[in-house]
Amino acid sequence: MKEQLEAIRSQALTSIAAAQDAAALEALRVQYLGKKGELTAVLKQMGKLSPEERPVMGQLANEVRSAVESAVESQSAVLAQKAMAQKLEDETLDVTIPGKKAAIGHKHPMYTVLDEIKEIFINMGFEIMDGPEIEQSDYNFTKLNTPDDHPAREWSDTFYLDEESRTLLRTQTSPMQIRAMEEHGVPIRMISPGRVYRKDEVDATHSPMFHQIEGLVVDKGITMADLKGTLNAVIREIYGPDTVTRFRPHHFPFTEPSCEVDIQCHKCGGVGCPTCKGEGWIEVLGAGMVHPKVLRGCGVDPDVYSGYAFGMGLERLAMGQFKISDLRLIFENDIRFLEQF
Ligand code: DAH
Repeated sequence: MKEQLEAIRSQALTSIAAAQDAAALEALRVQYLGKKGELTAVLKQMGKLSPEERPVMGQLANEVRSAVESAVESQSAVLAQKAMAQKLEDETLDVTIPGKKAAIGHKHPMYTVLDEIKEIFINMGFEIMDGPEIEQSDYNFTKLNTPDDHPAREWSDTFYLDEESRTLLRTQTSPMQIRAMEEHGVPIRMISPGRVYRKDEVDATHSPMFHQIEGLVVDKGITMADLKGTLNAVIREIYGPDTVTRFRPHHFPFTEPSCEVDIQCHKCGGVGCPTCKGEGWIEVLGAGMVHPKVLRGCGVDPDVYSGYAFGMGLERLAMGQFKISDLRLIFENDIRFLEQF
């Protein structure tokens, strides 16, 4: 029995020390120490021993058991450490590898120009106002003194949203003149940028959706001189201090008198070139003194108050500033185009 016990000890210790993983180690523990294990099998034969031999063998058996137990324990610790080392190695992070650059976009060129213009007007004491793109034809046309038979009201020109032609996609930002006066009263000094819609075919200079900036100033004693002075100052901020302007008579239903404002072509100095289409001048906005009928319709007494209004196209401004030759480029949002700005 002594030889048996010694054999178990040496075999067990060797194979336990060689166990490569937790499962193999557990199998060995069961093989030697389990209820049906080798050590148990030997101990079952203790009854056959003489009374003198029994305590000696009993002590040896206990020694073998605790030797095997502590071998299992220490191998288990070795394996755990190995596993941890492996895990650390597998999960190694090289903090010196350059990171992935987050792709951050930038402002669309048209909004760069819009923000510049807003800044100019804010510095002159104007408020920025926002208004609906779905508009009543009352606001888009009637309250702006537009006659019932005006061609702009045609279904062929305007996107109506109902059969009765009451609701539409605004064709201009001018209805914001009415909304501003109705909501805020006078005196008022505001600009209102936003999208407008017209039934135009897409080409290099037309789009069914584009942007305008409306402006309105109403107070006591406002004259055409204020209109000219302010718009000249704004235009020189945008196009440069030496810009030459021209105020040309025109007609708009909601202003009287009305004008269109041109700048002398900065490319050719007024001689005529492809940029100004040989004209020498480039139209930049429409303006005029707010029609007394429009003021009255908003509850403003035209004998006490007067004002001016103006409207300009944002795309044309951006195209001039960034030398963009085709309007479609502004809306196609091709990243290769936008990345240039
Ligand atoms: N709404 C006009 C248009 O779309 C532009 C305009 C002209 C606006 C004269 C004005 C103005 O406020 O006074 O053609």
